[in-house]
Amino acid sequence: MYVVNTERMKTMRLQKFMAQCGVASRRKSEEIILEGRVKVNDVIVKELGTIVDPNRDIVEVDDRKIEMESRKVYIMLNKPEGYVTTLKDRHSEKIVLDLIEGVEERVFPVGRLDADTSGLLLMTNDGNLTYKLTHPSHEVAKKYIAVVEGVPNNKKLARFRKGLRIDGRMTAEAYVRIIKKHRDSSVLEISIHEGRNRQVRKMCEYIRHPVIKLKRVSIGELKLGNLEVGKWRYLTEKEVKYLKKL
Ligand code: URA
Repeated sequence: MYVVNTERMKTMRLQKFMAQCGVASRRKSEEIILEGRVKVNDVIVKELGTIVDPNRDIVEVDDRKIEMESRKVYIMLNKPEGYVTTLKDRHSEKIVLDLIEGVEERVFPVGRLDADTSGLLLMTNDGNLTYKLTHPSHEVAKKYIAVVEGVPNNKKLARFRKGLRIDGRMTAEAYVRIIKKHRDSSVLEISIHEGRNRQVRKMCEYIRHPVIKLKRVSIGELKLGNLEVGKWRYLTEKEVKYLKKL
């Protein structure tokens, strides 16, 4: 589970902090400070240059604590293969955050995609939504297009749909259909409700049709559409509303 909000804000002048909290403009905030209406850590402060640390200091205006509202942003990325969804792994690997340029807010991936999987990845700084969408009890369907070795027969497809024992536990009912057959491979459309580690790959391996390529194309009603590989976009208001309602 990703941390709800680990955003570290820099220290700044008190009036700037007040403005960013939506108290008033910087100029007006200066007046409020001079009027003796502002406390930092319980002490009235009238110095305009006072530096505060939003992560540590408690600032009150008229005895009411103020806080910086960070704007919630919701992003859809078409993750290329070769990028990891973890944020810490700074060593040799490429991380998805490197692809989100121009976004000031610190966003986090919602759940994960394997490094070798491409496709739809949601990123947000809305910890509540991340929590909701990645909770095991949550049953939003995720759709994948998988290129697999060989062409599975009906019996195998039926087993896939019904449930397979993966890592000692049965998978929930799944959807699968063949959308293209080649001589040595096939293309499957797969939909699962769970988010277990490498689940699609393990399920395909189980029926002896290992995955060659895997791409996530939708999460519930959210579709990757024709978003280019490596590109991102903000979700529309309608899409955000939909996710919050789930
Ligand atoms: N299933 C997988 O095997 N890999 C993913 O990245 C997502 C689902």
